[in-house]
Amino acid sequence: MLARRCLSFSRPAHARSLSTRASAILSALDIPIDKELAGVYHGEWTGSGDLLESKCPTTGEVLARVRSASPEELHAALHKSREAYQVFRSIPAPKRGEILRQIRVALASKRDELGALVSLEMGKIRTEGVGEVQEFVDIADYAVGLSRMMNGRLVASERPGHSILEVPNPLGVVAVLSAFNFPVAVYGWNLALSLAAGNATLWKPSPSTPLCGIAVTKIVSGVLERNGVPGAVAGLVTGDKDVGAGIVESQDVDMVSFTGSEAVGRHVGKVVQSRFGKVLLELGGNNAVIVMPDADLSLAVPAVFFGAVGTAGQRCTSTRRLFLHRAIAPEFLSRLRALYASLLPGDPLAPSTLLGPLHTRAAVGVYSDAVARLQTVGAEILTGGARYDGAALGSPLDGGNFVQPTIAVPPTVDMGDAVWRTETFAPVLCVGVFDALEEAIAWNNGVPQGLSSSLWTRDLRNVGKWIGPAGSDAGIVNVNVGTSGAEIGAAFGGNKTTGWGRESGGDAWKQYVRWSACTINFSDEAPLAQGVQFPSESTA
Ligand code: UN1
Repeated sequence: MLARRCLSFSRPAHARSLSTRASAILSALDIPIDKELAGVYHGEWTGSGDLLESKCPTTGEVLARVRSASPEELHAALHKSREAYQVFRSIPAPKRGEILRQIRVALASKRDELGALVSLEMGKIRTEGVGEVQEFVDIADYAVGLSRMMNGRLVASERPGHSILEVPNPLGVVAVLSAFNFPVAVYGWNLALSLAAGNATLWKPSPSTPLCGIAVTKIVSGVLERNGVPGAVAGLVTGDKDVGAGIVESQDVDMVSFTGSEAVGRHVGKVVQSRFGKVLLELGGNNAVIVMPDADLSLAVPAVFFGAVGTAGQRCTSTRRLFLHRAIAPEFLSRLRALYASLLPGDPLAPSTLLGPLHTRAAVGVYSDAVARLQTVGAEILTGGARYDGAALGSPLDGGNFVQPTIAVPPTVDMGDAVWRTETFAPVLCVGVFDALEEAIAWNNGVPQGLSSSLWTRDLRNVGKWIGPAGSDAGIVNVNVGTSGAEIGAAFGGNKTTGWGRESGGDAWKQYVRWSACTINFSDEAPLAQGVQFPSESTA
């Protein structure tokens, strides 16, 4: 019944021709449906730059038109961010934590509505959309605690009557350039730490998910304004490449946190480094699962299924490579194929749907190219390998970007080959068969990317190899847990071409501050370090 309601595509009489499916979600978040939206916030809402279209990946419907930041508005937003930082940095950290706590409460009260918007605009299934908002709530909780624990250190001095302090202070303006696939949570990871650290944060969401940016910023700014804090502490600039370039090049941005492709990340890294700004990169993943013969397949098979097919394969952490021990490979694949066969594409807002669309039409092209490349090298396509037939899907899903999750067995397992080393941001899983764990670990490590990895075994000796110096070289190294779906408590990020950045938990907060080593002399002497002698006034 509910599923049918979600699919309702009738158009209310009063509004521009927006489906009830979409207008109900936008209205629940106070997003006007009958006019162009202002896509810039720096204490007030504005927007007079190029028009962005938010398009529903499920139906192709235009959800909204958003006025992005003009060059002048970007300049103004950067200026306001700097001013906001100058106020915010002097608010004691636990008081900043209290504001974060209120943001957490405000977000949690709109969790389901925001989750539905993520599902509508990004295309992931509703439970994952809600889960993503929960991830923001979780990191806000974490940062509330952190606001009382962002401790420096007292270091022993070699000189009598001296103390050395390592002091964290707010950094300045942190820009967050986030990707379409986690249009809420990745901003949340950054905002929560940045805010606790006393910075102003300026967010540029993906140009294809401006509504998530606007809805979250409305909630956050409401809390800031109620607390008498400048709204530009959490500013928003929607826009395309030009706006991104303006941010990345700006000397007014102390740190750029970028999530996206390796190609763009390489450019962002160079530009920010060339002006000696700080940069945090979260780029591509090409994540592998290794299944040993002693693994519990009743846990491993569904974990690979979720890892490869969840979010339609559009997580940085999605499972893209599967290495099966020869002893269990046939059974594993037949069980996995049975799960794939049970999948039906559908409206991601409907509770029963497990497979939503790809986010854009362009992504469908990337998927088709990857399948074609696999076919060219002679890979066996076990399942999938094509778009869903629009006519069979029926209206309105025939306007969506639905592709069949694909399992392929390339003829050789060669990590030098493009079919293995390229990250395809779509549900395409490549399978290889191994005989010894060392061989599978070498394959796991044999690609440029290093985000997430997962070993399935009940043998402690395998675990030791896997997490040790000759083990997985990824930033996330799991055992009996799939490659995706990390919690916020540990630092999240990847090595190698994934960019080495760390966000979310762990020690990630240490990047959002400027560190000072402060040596303080409490004595009546002024000795030099290392025993260096130099004349004082009395001995000269
Ligand atoms: C991403 O895909 O960019 O671990 C982030 C996960 C999520 C975050 C993914 N918690 O899959």
